[in-house]
Amino acid sequence: MSETQKTATLTIDGATYDLPVYSPTSGPDVLDIRKLYGQAGVFTYDPGFTSTASCESTITYIDGEEGILTHRGYPIGDLAGKSHYLEVCYLLLYGALPTAAELEDFESTITRHTMLHEQMVNFFRGFRRDAHPMAIMVGVVGAMSAFYHDSTDINDPRQREIASHRLIAKMPTIAAMAYKYTIGQPFVSPRNDLDYASNFLRMCFAVPAEDYEVNPILSRAMDRIFTLHADHEQNASTSTVRLASSSGANPFACIAAGIACLWGPAHGGANQACLEMLKEIGSVDRIPEYIARAKDKNDPFRLMGFGHRVYKNMDPRATVMKESADEVLELLGVEDNPLLQVAKELEHIALNDPYFKDKKLFPNVDFYSGIILEAMGFPTSMFTPIFALSRTVGWISQWKEQLSDPAHKIGRPRQLYLGEDVRSYADIENR
Ligand code: CMC
Repeated sequence: MSETQKTATLTIDGATYDLPVYSPTSGPDVLDIRKLYGQAGVFTYDPGFTSTASCESTITYIDGEEGILTHRGYPIGDLAGKSHYLEVCYLLLYGALPTAAELEDFESTITRHTMLHEQMVNFFRGFRRDAHPMAIMVGVVGAMSAFYHDSTDINDPRQREIASHRLIAKMPTIAAMAYKYTIGQPFVSPRNDLDYASNFLRMCFAVPAEDYEVNPILSRAMDRIFTLHADHEQNASTSTVRLASSSGANPFACIAAGIACLWGPAHGGANQACLEMLKEIGSVDRIPEYIARAKDKNDPFRLMGFGHRVYKNMDPRATVMKESADEVLELLGVEDNPLLQVAKELEHIALNDPYFKDKKLFPNVDFYSGIILEAMGFPTSMFTPIFALSRTVGWISQWKEQLSDPAHKIGRPRQLYLGEDVRSYADIENR
């Protein structure tokens, strides 16, 4: 962060206050209001944090107007096309692309931490058999703090690193176990000879009676879904992880908090909500009815998979995901599926409708990822767990960055209080 020559001046009731202005590597300048309360006795008001930088970061950059997303400076299109998920994990965690030896070492470490402590199986069995896999993930990831005591000391950089590796390695195992549990099939152990994405697909789809042959196109598409969801700067779940971590909570508890936040339909839950919406629409002739509902101010219905808080242009992840969707659908020969016809027509109408064009509501990453996952055979309830396992590296990299900054503070927003002023307590007989 560099302080520019610029200063912003704020005038309140004739008194002026100078606010330092910082220039980021890219993006708009940032006004520093930290001393404002002490000097002027006022807070700032920004519900939904639409204009507030909550931290410094060197991990991910988004230009929502231009539709740009970079990790450590590398455009997401290059990473999705030329790299793969574990290399991107290394990049996010350590700040630079690995050498061949570093990558081999990292992949070997992750591969050798994929198994769960055997006692954790009992923990799964405590859930009702029809539990949502996200409910299981929130619980099981939080419970990791009870199983891996040797990586909960947040003040020890080595323990922080071990916790990061464990989380990246074990999330696919946990997500696959959550799935198997809810469909009543036995858990499938990870296999060290498979790559990260293939291993996940096999843990989800193999059964004791029949192993699962991993198709390389599907495993590549799975890896791309992981890569495209790996990090997205200070979104709701990442900010949740940072806020939880600011109090000194252990890493597994912080990531469980992130998973809980991701679950909501406005965030990671949108991929499930989007596919369910496509199923509800059911046929192309019903689309106008749903478009009309989305535009109706008195109807809370929104077109799921459209719009984004930051992107006011095509989501660059959606561009790559759309290509991947075409590839997978062709491979599986399901282009004529009625659900996909609805998706294609909805995309076409929304991209050309003045309401969506004027409000800059483009299809987002979840619109296309849901279509791919459905074609691969995942039930909608698994869409958000897959997002959660992909985003774990982003959460943990941001968590690590925050803890590495000696100046980090507990997060404690203020409020605009509009409740009652102080009043006298009335005894019950006098109310
Ligand atoms: N369908 C219909 N209208 C919409 C939609 C939509 N999907 N999204 C936004 N709008 C309208 C909204 O009604 C508002 O209209 P007006 O200005 O007339 O009041 C305007 O567009 C701006 O919306 P907003 O709610 O102020 O925008 P936001 O930045 O707070 O919300 C969003 C962003 C993602 C929550 C919202 O677009 C949405 O609910 N989309 C559907 C859910 C979804 O697909 N979420 C996944 C996001 S991508 C994955 C991730 O990063 O988690």
